[in-house]
Amino acid sequence: MKKIAVIGAQWGDEGKGKIVNYFSKNYDWVARFSGGSNAGHTIFFKDKKYVNHLLPSISLETQSKGYLGSGMVIDLVQMGKELSTLEKDFQGISARFYLDLQASLVLPWNKQEDEFFESQRSEPVGTTKRGIGPAYTDKTSREGLRVYDLLDINRLKIKLSELYSMKKKLYGQAITSSDMQVYDELMEGFNFIKSLKVNLMTSIELYHMLDTQSILFEGAQGVMLDIDCGTYPFVTSSTCTAHGVNSFGLSVTELDEVYAVVKAYTTRVGEGPFPTEDSSDKGTILREKGLEFGATTGRPRRTGWLDLPSLRYAILKSKITKLVLTKADVLNGFDEVKICTHYEIDNNNQDIPYSTKDFSIAKPVYVNLKGWHDLKDKTFEEYLLFIEKNLGIKVEFVSYGPKTDEIFKR
Ligand code: IMP
Repeated sequence: MKKIAVIGAQWGDEGKGKIVNYFSKNYDWVARFSGGSNAGHTIFFKDKKYVNHLLPSISLETQSKGYLGSGMVIDLVQMGKELSTLEKDFQGISARFYLDLQASLVLPWNKQEDEFFESQRSEPVGTTKRGIGPAYTDKTSREGLRVYDLLDINRLKIKLSELYSMKKKLYGQAITSSDMQVYDELMEGFNFIKSLKVNLMTSIELYHMLDTQSILFEGAQGVMLDIDCGTYPFVTSSTCTAHGVNSFGLSVTELDEVYAVVKAYTTRVGEGPFPTEDSSDKGTILREKGLEFGATTGRPRRTGWLDLPSLRYAILKSKITKLVLTKADVLNGFDEVKICTHYEIDNNNQDIPYSTKDFSIAKPVYVNLKGWHDLKDKTFEEYLLFIEKNLGIKVEFVSYGPKTDEIFKR
């Protein structure tokens, strides 16, 4: 059956939640393969807004199911809060969510470590302070806990006591919760989501269903925040490319389509290189018109122009096959719209950045295209054709507002 991925191709906040939600009514499953409550996916149902951080953006119109994959880091308390909000309007919806037994847990200590690391860095990353980096650190150092660890209470208590003394030795006063406090919080969160009838499952069981059921993989953040190919160290700690589907036993080449969601301009929240950043009045207009404030932290986003070299890079790195352009309406009314066509790096023109260093020293080279007042204007179509010609793939959808139906197919 059909399998697609919808990922972000910039630095996150491209509007993936809305696009996933637009597609999701045609899929049996919406699965997340990475990240945690650092994401902020906004969806609308009958003019009411819902912001999910952890839960996949399942369709609220159909009976689609949501899967939280083993590559994710789960904050159980946050998961319970999001489910409670949805339950108020959609009673029983929690039973449509499936949590992978192999997913990693975010422990209260991880949030304390996130604060501590940021306070010690001479160049902070600007994290969301949701404990994401430290939870992935625990995972790769093999100290992490997974959902199935909550099923063996005796072993869990031993493991938490070991972890507590280890973390206390490493981080001293930054660690403020005892092992028993962490145990209580974990069990409270776990018992609560179980009381709402969330299902526990494994990706192999899901894999076997995919012969007869369709799936949409929902990426989190964006390619430029990917732990391997993003602007390291100013990245998140997980896979943001479509290759994250490997934790489901799939290869990206088995997907029917990899849609990249791309904002008609560029934003970034947090620190790190951003070649097309515009700190002038025009950047402020983009922030204000586009309501560019973080869905997770409320921080103002940095703003700038569409960056084709970084998109070429993202297309290569994530096997992107089609584009969905969002927030096109925010550019309505500009006399001229800038697009970066290539970078100048060490006095040489470069079409595609090769390394993280390239991103930090790249000077953007722009063309100015004629602006538009309305998306039906010819100049907007010319803008789209310019993008397609330069990137070599199609802009299949254009989104022009936050509501699910504010979108057209070309
Ligand atoms: P962390 O994921 O909280 O560790 O934050 C690492 C970097 O990724 C910071 O610059 C965050 O602002 C950024 N980041 C994490 N999640 C998102 C997101 O969903 N949208 C945009 N930026 C994000």
